[in-house]
Amino acid sequence: MVKICCIGAGYVGGPTMAVIALKCPDVQVVVVDISVPRITAWNSDQLPIYEPGLDDVVKQCRGKNLFFSTDVEKHVSEADIVFVSVNTPTKTRGLGAGKAADLTYWESAARMIADVSKSDKIVVEKSTVPVKTAEAIEKILTHNSKGINFQILSNPEFLAEGTAIEDLFKPDRVLIGGRETAGGQKAIQALKAVYAHWVPEENIITTNLWSAELSKLAANAFLAQRISSVNAMSALCEATGANVSEVAYAVGKDTRIGPKFLNASVGFGGSCFQKDILNLVYICECNGLPEVAEYWKQVIKINDYQKSRFVNRVVASMFNTVSSKKIAILGFAFKKDTGDTRETPAIDVCKGLLGDKACVSIYDPQVTEDQIQRDLTLNKFDWDHPLHLQPMSPTTVKQVAVVWDAYAATKDAHAVCILTEWDEFKSLDYQRIYDNMQKPAFIFDGRNVVDIEKLREIGFIVYSIGKPLDAWLKDMPAIA
Ligand code: UDX
Ligand code: UDX
Ligand code: ADP
Repeated sequence: MVKICCIGAGYVGGPTMAVIALKCPDVQVVVVDISVPRITAWNSDQLPIYEPGLDDVVKQCRGKNLFFSTDVEKHVSEADIVFVSVNTPTKTRGLGAGKAADLTYWESAARMIADVSKSDKIVVEKSTVPVKTAEAIEKILTHNSKGINFQILSNPEFLAEGTAIEDLFKPDRVLIGGRETAGGQKAIQALKAVYAHWVPEENIITTNLWSAELSKLAANAFLAQRISSVNAMSALCEATGANVSEVAYAVGKDTRIGPKFLNASVGFGGSCFQKDILNLVYICECNGLPEVAEYWKQVIKINDYQKSRFVNRVVASMFNTVSSKKIAILGFAFKKDTGDTRETPAIDVCKGLLGDKACVSIYDPQVTEDQIQRDLTLNKFDWDHPLHLQPMSPTTVKQVAVVWDAYAATKDAHAVCILTEWDEFKSLDYQRIYDNMQKPAFIFDGRNVVDIEKLREIGFIVYSIGKPLDAWLKDMPAIA
């Protein structure tokens, strides 16, 4: 029986290993993590991450060929294939701060593998890492190897949160990069055999190590670029009276462009896009390619612009002040169907409104109050460095309320901001919400989920990203 061990039981490691266990009954999978609460949760009925369909997969395999453990060293030493899926946050200090990936967790995992291994192993990079990380890891492993043979593979994961299980069941492609030596090719085949249990052969791409590493950064950069492109258009649509949904539909009909991933929004979030682009920018700069770096930086600049444009629109529409006004925030997660808030645009929007002294009342069906309070008091990039947590500032606590339903959030509010596209926000009783709000009542839809005409009939002043502005908003131009 092939034994797989995955270091890191997070958003990537957990679901990926659960699906490998489900699809490969002849493979034993152990997911290990240094975090005791995380592993305890994986072994309980309350999994540590919310992901549609995940509970079901875990229930089917846990205790049979899927195990979660904190005994990291034991399971690594027994494994044939070790996946490394630890966090790679952006560095917050020192060389490359704010851009380069922090490989501390990766390096300590590699040193531990070298220490405890007694047999040959295939070590698989699963977390997104800068190009040439495999080379560095290879050096750590071989310099400490005591004669053991390590083969390094890069096998980036392309799943998106909220649809992780679907994405893992039917991936567009599985990408495996390895050394072009006989040993490297053998390792590639061994990992390919695992995926071949359920992924058609033609969808398993094999490349050299660097191509695999770079493809992951490139794919995320291209996806983020599409969103920044449509978001840039949304600003122009508002200025000219065009409708961004109509423009995106017409553009996406061109088969060379395609219809997906063209929804204008208040901005992209999530743990990958910004981090990977910053990483890409840093690599370009280190390789003497400032023009290329500048090109990709612009994707992040437009994303930041979109978020501040949204805040400015809110403040400008409400007579240029939101001081002491109650603003309901519907949705805090970075997208629907996840409880993850890493880099969510809601953080920047809320911070912007709080900076203008608003009182925000936040509702999200999956994010806890504790998480929201922490997100609103941490500095950029600190989210992935739990050790640097700072105490909460008392003023922010007073200005932020977290409530457990949309009606409580909107009661007596001056405005509603929709920041996550949760399905339930489409079918709220907006008449009831309107009746309980201060007048004039505003809705700022950062995800284009509401029926603008219906809401205008009720009496709301409605702003929706990239849609023609109503007369009120035209008279109160936002200066970005
Ligand atoms: C992304 C990639 O999609 C995935 O392949 C990679 O493995 C990890 O990074 P994820 O961040 O989980 O996945 O979610 P994704 O669906 O890509 O959304 C990212 C952000 O873009 C979200 O904030 C989402 O709301 C936003 N988005 C997405 C838009 O604003 N408009 C769109 O059309 C699509
Ligand atoms: C373009 C649009 O495709 C078309 O829809 C529009 O109506 C007019 O402009 P055209 O300029 O005739 O058409 O040719 P196109 O095939 O788009 O190529 C434009 C340039 O891009 C060419 O120089 C081509 O060599 C280059 N190109 C195209 C690339 O360098 N790489 C590619 O992958 C595709
Ligand atoms: P991702 O979204 O990439 O999966 P997460 O932050 O959700 O990232 O998960 C990474 C996990 O890796 C965390 O649960 C963390 O505790 C774990 N981890 C980090 N370093 C180590 C290590 N050296 N050994 C075991 N687990 C680790």
